[in-house]
Amino acid sequence: MTRSAIFVTLTVAEGDEGLAQVRGLCADLPSLIKAVGFRSAEAGLTCVLGIGAALWDRLAPGAAPQGLHPFREISGVHHAPSTPGDLLLHVRAARPDYCFELVTHVMRRLGPAATVQDETQGFKFFDNRDLLGFVDGTENPLGAALTEAVVIGDEDPLFAGGSYVIVQKYLHDMTGWEAMTVEQQERIIGRHKLSDIEFADADKASFAHNVLTNIEDAEGNQLEILRDNMPFGSPAHGEFGTYFIGYAREPGRIETMLTNMFVGNPPGNYDRILDVSTAVTGGLFFVPPADMLDTIAAGGTLAEPASEPEPVARPDGSLGLGSLKRGN
Ligand code: HEM
Repeated sequence: MTRSAIFVTLTVAEGDEGLAQVRGLCADLPSLIKAVGFRSAEAGLTCVLGIGAALWDRLAPGAAPQGLHPFREISGVHHAPSTPGDLLLHVRAARPDYCFELVTHVMRRLGPAATVQDETQGFKFFDNRDLLGFVDGTENPLGAALTEAVVIGDEDPLFAGGSYVIVQKYLHDMTGWEAMTVEQQERIIGRHKLSDIEFADADKASFAHNVLTNIEDAEGNQLEILRDNMPFGSPAHGEFGTYFIGYAREPGRIETMLTNMFVGNPPGNYDRILDVSTAVTGGLFFVPPADMLDTIAAGGTLAEPASEPEPVARPDGSLGLGSLKRGN
């Protein structure tokens, strides 16, 4: 998690001109990140580019990632809208100027082909707290569990190394939230507010956020996601928000969490965060691995991953191991 982030959602103009600009951005993005980020290694500038389902079909690289579809709105006790988005930029750095500068160059590269649907500038708030006052991000997976949760593997070989990302921008009713006691707030989140210690399972309410978002597969394995939520807002205008961003190797697990939150599990047992938080955007994007950007840039078609050639037995019965050349 970084001190600063900018989230930009764009739509791309109809026609070939818009596609040409997107291909140009895919070609140039690595060098733009390098040019801006090289000025300070400490700034740790990174940028993730997500591509929405409709734009992916237009770019037509020959196949589509299995889990890619437009974000599906949810109408339950509360409403999660689906809003337009062809491209998502998730720009992160230790300093806001690095994020700002990179987005400036990306927008210049896209030119009039892109229409901004949303730009949210996030900041780190005290000890990783959201604006509701709770530490946000504690239970993110780490190390091998993180890769397992987030990176597409053999289940979709053409897209292995990629990921999916779902974003939602939430606006908080701070007056409503602050009217609750800290004990009520802690029941909603399922953790102690000051210490960030999780409640014992037996003490958690059935509607606690960390009960409804804790999901398992058929074998009882926990299905995890990576969150990099950021506070944002404008105190003078009374705007206080959380930008939710979740990555996963398949979007279904995030969609299940959302259904549990908005519809409830069982239905009606919904997430009380939503009584004071309104989702105003919703988007789903595929994140290509960096080398796939070259194929998209060139207007090429994705090829099946090359399989290792079978070792060929030599007349002497050996496999020719130890040679630096393949196929000996
Ligand atoms: C946990 C806040 C939306 C999934 C948490 C925690 C907080 C929090 C404070 C506890 C600390 C932690 O582990 O990070 C919020 C706020 C949201 C929001 C303020 C929006 C207003 C969402 C959404 C999802 C989600 C939309 C998924 C679709 C999770 C998960 C955990 C979590 C998976 C970890 C649960 C665990 O295993 O203990 N969130 N969250 N959150 N949240 Fe959220």
